[in-house]
Amino acid sequence: MKTLLINIKELLQVRETAIEKVSGNEMKTLPKIDNAFLLIENGKIADFGKMENCPNYENCELVDATGRVVLPTWVDSHTHIVYAGNRIQEFVDRINGLSYEEIANRGGGILNSAKKLNETSETDLYEQSKKRLDEVIAQGTGAVEIKSGYGLTVEGELKMLRVIKKLKENYAIPIKATFLGAHAFPTEFKNNHSAYIDLIINEMLPKIAAENLADYVDAFLETGYFSVTETKRIIEASKKYGLQPKIHVNQFTAINGIKMCVEHNALSVDHLEVVTDDDIEALQNSNTMPVALPSCSYFISIPYTPARKIIDAGLPLALATDYNPGTTPSGNMNFVVATACIKMKMTPEEAINAATINAAYAMGVSNTVGSITKGKKANVIITKPIHSYYQLPYEFGSNLIEKVVINGKFNV
Ligand code: NIG
Ligand code: FE
Repeated sequence: MKTLLINIKELLQVRETAIEKVSGNEMKTLPKIDNAFLLIENGKIADFGKMENCPNYENCELVDATGRVVLPTWVDSHTHIVYAGNRIQEFVDRINGLSYEEIANRGGGILNSAKKLNETSETDLYEQSKKRLDEVIAQGTGAVEIKSGYGLTVEGELKMLRVIKKLKENYAIPIKATFLGAHAFPTEFKNNHSAYIDLIINEMLPKIAAENLADYVDAFLETGYFSVTETKRIIEASKKYGLQPKIHVNQFTAINGIKMCVEHNALSVDHLEVVTDDDIEALQNSNTMPVALPSCSYFISIPYTPARKIIDAGLPLALATDYNPGTTPSGNMNFVVATACIKMKMTPEEAINAATINAAYAMGVSNTVGSITKGKKANVIITKPIHSYYQLPYEFGSNLIEKVVINGKFNV
């Protein structure tokens, strides 16, 4: 089965040889081919180039992409899309003056979602999550990481991870599961942190490993949540099961967590709304990808990750949504890319690199998605007719996507 896209106005993120990520100044370059063709065969990218060099392929389904931009689907390396219900009341409470912290201290926040999740059946949870996944795929996301962390009990965490496993089985896009048992301390462990960490290490981790339910481990490393020492215990215990860390850190405060994450070979450190010079230094010459979540900053009115400081220090940067009921009830990567340009002063080239190839690195899938490279999955976005790819962040509120192609299949 062959499909040939012809007359593509701009084919973006073209990498002849596969790369893992782009850092610093390299992020300013987004390789593209004007007036291009793209051949898809058996769900994979088989060939591409300039129209004038397009071979005479036979037995192809032809798709005329005149006026349209084609790019790899977005990769969303940080989400919590498996959750129960919503936190609309907290949203209104924040409008009326309460802070995220004040709401959490009143038993709202993560504990509120955990209560709802533990009262929801696995089937119902799957149905709610599936709806969100369908929506983000239609918005151009072609690979997604999903975290647990709203169970906070052995059964609740297993339920979430089983839902993620089922999504993996039923969807054609790459999905990675991250165990986030260390998202918050349940009320009964408020004054006995080590007992909850024992539960994570002695009960949750072995069961999760036995059912092969997780690819990565996460923790909310933050003042009032998990300390550097507590997070380190969890990371070290997870290593035994082959789970690499991807850690929530520096969302509200900088407490030297990034250095510890880098020392433990974290695949990514996510949030980073607050970044010190020591954090930058720790990330230099490391394999850890910093990940910014601008729609979280937007929604709860906290600072944006200092992208310029990070990129200008020669580091890579990835972008993700953080789709969750509390701080980011949106999984729209188009909005993330636009907001990164508008609020974080990332150039469109940097933002698109951050949301494709670097994002793929941040969830360990850069060998299969994230660029237009022969042999990679044919997961691509075809835009509506537009002036140039600059229009994507410029018209931040418009839906400029015409079709989303997953494994060579035209979904939307
Ligand atoms: O990434 N910061 C920690 N976790 C989530 C929010 C959790 C919630 O409020 O439900 C985040 O923003
Ligand atoms: Fe998050």
